[in-house]
Amino acid sequence: MNLGEPTTITVPTFITDRLILRGWREADLVPYAAMNADPETMVHLHGTFGFASTERLVSNLIGMWALRGFGMWAVELRADGSFAGRAGLYQTTEWPDPEVAWSIRRDLWNQGLATEAATAALEYGFTTIGFDRIISLPAPANAPSVRVAEKLGLTFEEIATVGPWQDSAVYGIARAQWQTGPGVRSGSR
Ligand SMILES: CC(C)(COP(=O)(O)OP(=O)(O)OC[C@H]1O[C@@H](n2cnc3c(N)ncnc32)[C@H](O)[C@@H]1OP(=O)(O)O)[C@@H](O)C(=O)NCCC(=O)NCCS
Repeated sequence: MNLGEPTTITVPTFITDRLILRGWREADLVPYAAMNADPETMVHLHGTFGFASTERLVSNLIGMWALRGFGMWAVELRADGSFAGRAGLYQTTEWPDPEVAWSIRRDLWNQGLATEAATAALEYGFTTIGFDRIISLPAPANAPSVRVAEKLGLTFEEIATVGPWQDSAVYGIARAQWQTGPGVRSGSR
């Protein structure tokens, strides 16, 4: 048997003030599945699901890095190394533009962590990948998520069906807006 060149997937690591955004590890599955099984966390995300679906989802999230060169990071808390959620960029052919998305472990809410993680994701999308525009798709009733989008400088555009999601609020930001906007730049490597 002749072995050809291996295919490698590169996932950059971002280090921000309080977080590490990094590639997924098997050890993330249990704490991420706990988030996905939490009704309060999932109330605006189409309901809870279990470990097997989390495993499939994480494979999908890793796969986006391979397919498109961007994707969703596992978010780690620098203070104690624990899994704090997921954040990053996501796009399927059904999406009008790449999406920035976030989900944070419930005991860590309202400390600015989603905003901190998403700031790094926007920076990566606009500078490294070169997107002209990035959107966010919070359910209109998801007030914390809408607030995160607004804090990042995204503005409301319309209520629309995006892929399978009906009645999503579409928030968007163009690169020029982002460059002059309020977002603090993340530390990165
Ligand atoms: C949405 C989510 C990621 C936000 O994470 P977070 O780390 O708490 O976000 P931040 O702390 O950066 O910002 C949250 C903002 O929402 C505000 N907020 C919280 N609850 C609110 C409410 N009920 N109504 C209005 N604003 C609210 C906070 O005060 C904060 O704004 P501020 O900084 O101006 O005070 C988190 O709530 C979560 O994981 N939810 C479940 C998963 C989810 O819905 N993900 C988003 C899918 S689109």
